[in-house]
Amino acid sequence: MNLILLGLPGAGKGTQAASIVDEYGVPHISTGDMFREAIKSETELGKEANSYIEKGELVPDEVTNGIVKERLEENDVKENGFLLDGYPRTLNQAEVLNENLSSAGLEVDGVIYIKVDTDVLMERLTGRIICADCGATYHKLFNPPKVEDTCGQCGGKEFYQREDDKPETVKRRIEINESLTNDLLNYYSDPDLIITVNGLGTPDEVFKEVKEKIDKLKASL
Ligand code: AP5
Repeated sequence: MNLILLGLPGAGKGTQAASIVDEYGVPHISTGDMFREAIKSETELGKEANSYIEKGELVPDEVTNGIVKERLEENDVKENGFLLDGYPRTLNQAEVLNENLSSAGLEVDGVIYIKVDTDVLMERLTGRIICADCGATYHKLFNPPKVEDTCGQCGGKEFYQREDDKPETVKRRIEINESLTNDLLNYYSDPDLIITVNGLGTPDEVFKEVKEKIDKLKASL
């Protein structure tokens, strides 16, 4: 399956991606994770990406398109498809993705749009905590680890907050992404392609709807 996860910052893309990967084994391609990895490794890409991410701005299209193109050429993607998370985020990215997939004889099977009201995003992102050992994502109030202060995935005890989850940066990220997300919804408006999911329930409730809809899509492929 070749899937795209679409949604505003904090809609729950990363949270749902983890469950989708567990259930379907499809390779997860998160441009945000790729940039954060490059920042951690202090590569040239990381330095460039960080200069945008720390301000809540988008990394330029040509940089982002380049890293995704390379990733899509890897064998695991050729064999098992992809789950793109946070890409495409601009019309240019959507068009370039389309060209790259077409030239490889591939196409997008479904675009899962996690729909949430903008007013919940600020509290979701400013309360997000991440396991320092394995990167699993939680929320201090809405999605805490089941055993207090212990990661349910790896047993890790240390959690941190993302630099770009400061209130002023979150505000900028939401502003930038709102109209771009609408543009993408128009771009992927084919009713056979777009799968809208209510992102306001608990993570488990949202995944139940995601799973029902992916199973239906899978059966139609
Ligand atoms: P990226 O990492 O992709 O950030 P984002 O799109 O802003 O999305 P987030 O990761 O913040 O949120 P999410 O939707 O994954 O929510 P999550 O599941 O964590 O990108 C970071 C930056 O990199 C961008 O700002 C940009 O600079 C750059 N970048 C990335 N891609 C780019 C591109 N294509 N082009 C250019 N630049 C790019 O959930 C959030 C919180 O809510 C968590 O605490 C979670 O536990 C909680 N939560 C999740 N679901 C629920 C629920 N159902 N109920 C209650 N709480 C929930």
